[in-house]
Amino acid sequence: MGYRDVYAAWQADPEGFWMQAAGAIDWKEKPSKALFDGNAPIYEWFSDGMVNTCWNAVDRHVLAGRGDQIAIMHESPITLSTKGITFRQLQDRVASLAGALRAKGIEKGDRVIIYMPMIPEALEAMLACARLGAIHSVVFGGFAASELAVRIDDCQPKAIIAASCGLEPNRVVHYKPLVDAAIDMASHKPDFCVIFQREQEVAQLVEGRDVSWHGFQYGVEPAECVPVEGNHPAYILYTSGTTGQPKGVVRHTGGHLVALQWSMTNVYNIAPGDRFWAASDVGWVVGHSYICYGPLVAGATTVVYEGKPVGTPHPGTFWRTIQNNRIKSFFTAPTALRAIRREDPNGDWIRRYKLHDLQALFLAGERADPDTVKWAQEQLGVPVVDHWWQTETGWAIAANPIGIETLPTKLGSPSVPMPGYDVQVLDEGGNPVPRGTLGAIALKLPLPPGTLPTLWNAEARFRKSYLDHFPGYYETGDAGYIDEDGYLYIMARTDDVINVAGHRLSTGAMEEVLASHPDVAECAVIGVADSLKGQSPLGFLCLKAGVTTPHDKVVADVVRMVRDRIGPVAAFKSACVVDRLPKTRSGKILRATMAKIADGEEFKMPATIDDPAVLDEIKAALALLGYPDTSNP
Ligand code: COA
Ligand code: AMP
Repeated sequence: MGYRDVYAAWQADPEGFWMQAAGAIDWKEKPSKALFDGNAPIYEWFSDGMVNTCWNAVDRHVLAGRGDQIAIMHESPITLSTKGITFRQLQDRVASLAGALRAKGIEKGDRVIIYMPMIPEALEAMLACARLGAIHSVVFGGFAASELAVRIDDCQPKAIIAASCGLEPNRVVHYKPLVDAAIDMASHKPDFCVIFQREQEVAQLVEGRDVSWHGFQYGVEPAECVPVEGNHPAYILYTSGTTGQPKGVVRHTGGHLVALQWSMTNVYNIAPGDRFWAASDVGWVVGHSYICYGPLVAGATTVVYEGKPVGTPHPGTFWRTIQNNRIKSFFTAPTALRAIRREDPNGDWIRRYKLHDLQALFLAGERADPDTVKWAQEQLGVPVVDHWWQTETGWAIAANPIGIETLPTKLGSPSVPMPGYDVQVLDEGGNPVPRGTLGAIALKLPLPPGTLPTLWNAEARFRKSYLDHFPGYYETGDAGYIDEDGYLYIMARTDDVINVAGHRLSTGAMEEVLASHPDVAECAVIGVADSLKGQSPLGFLCLKAGVTTPHDKVVADVVRMVRDRIGPVAAFKSACVVDRLPKTRSGKILRATMAKIADGEEFKMPATIDDPAVLDEIKAALALLGYPDTSNP
């Protein structure tokens, strides 16, 4: 069957399609049906089945004779170490950790925050929670303590599992002091913290609250897998929205397993025993779906990579890792390829390694620019698959499903919708637009298994953010079009989310920080084109009347404040002071127009602009900062 047959089979009988896909998962009790629509437009999948994620990711492979296969390969060019963990070892380690968590009172439904760098123990912590039916929430290490505190207060964890430190090429990230500061800031206090001590920095433990990873496992009874309902939350993952309050995306257990297993086979072409590597971070959805759960559920080897695409130590590090681990499918962000290409434009480093096993390169997280895709195609000689998805969906909305059939690639397009996704392009009134016309991209409800059923403790916000604007649809927040052949093109966000180095960030959250500076009366943050990172944030500040603080000082202050409050990952490095911001007559700041000026793009003077002369002032301020930047594509 080719892609079109598979998609048509889903359209003809979605229930039958997903029940068949569910057959690839081990259920303790099989679900009676796939879709539960009694509470539409809130939908659930496989709600009455009983299942355990850890069983499917670990134990069943040991039972099937794969105990000696490497499950997790840790590659750390930062610590110069490589280490493999077999499925049998993983089972023992996870059962022991889960046993220790259970002995400290963690039960099904309890929340556990995980704050760890790219080490195998991060996956073990996730799997140990899954083993008990505890709901984990992994927080990315590049966020500041206050972001961690917001998440602690929102999901109210009984425990936090953290490492003593993370390692960036130029510095040690002091995780433990960040955890301590976050707990101080948060109103909710966890019962206990488990700290994995790394040799690069040993952290001080708080007596009575903190236990050491190894110490607290001493003498405990290993835990067996606890079956949970198909609609039991497997995890909560916070992602950026319009405001500073992140959205807690909930993932239900049954649909998660079914969708990941389906995608590993059909999108990534991965079977048991194959080797798969996603070079992302466990703190992002890519890390959840395709570093941890997807490959392991599929019985494949996964790589946990602690390093960067360049500088650790050279731009050949990705290819060396692919060679040494005989990776079949590799997944990274376009930014990473741009970073490599910048240092190795002719692919000299690529040719030093034997990449015989590599069959495909997958790109996601941001728009894959045609130049970068072409470069990768030429250098690697394998299909380069751009695929489009979001934290909310957990797996690809659109892709080239090479496990079914390798479709012709179109540069600039993440190809075609996956089964389960009815992708429509709508106008402002919610009506489908003709092929080739730009509009808001929406997904007809219900969304497929594995996608978010709701936001944690915030169903009203879920409805408002995603369902209310286009009734009967899920609003993706992306704009684009579909061509004559049904290929999708994702062009921009329709909200205030920007994408910096494949990291999704909220300009609204940054504006909240800028606005809290005592000298700032008003502000705006926009995303400007960046030839390496895709976009980078840029701030505009209007100061209060009578302020005498030098502008440079205010700018330096707000740069530091964003780093301290949101984190280094925000990469907020530049801002300027202006007298006024361009606004509509009703007072809405014209951020999109400012971004177009910064990028040197043509723009139509907004009909509702209050005073067009302000745009000249903005142009002048941008020119002083070097925008438009002609090095950008
Ligand atoms: N923990 C702590 N800090 C982190 C971090 C982490 N896990 N990840 C990044 N940071 C820090 C960086 O050290 C940097 O800090 P600095 O301002 O002190 O230099 C800051 O956050 C910004 O990081 P980043 O935007 O990643 O820029 P960079 O200059 O360090 O690296 C790239 C540039 C292109 C090499 C890098 O962004 C990259 O590998 N991107 C791919 C992203 C990716 O895989 N995304 C996943 C989506 S699929
Ligand atoms: P995240 O939730 O962090 O995965 O970010 C999701 C957003 O990243 C999407 O809504 C898009 O705006 C963008 N994105 C992800 N993948 C792609 C892609 N292949 N092409 C274009 N944009 C993408």
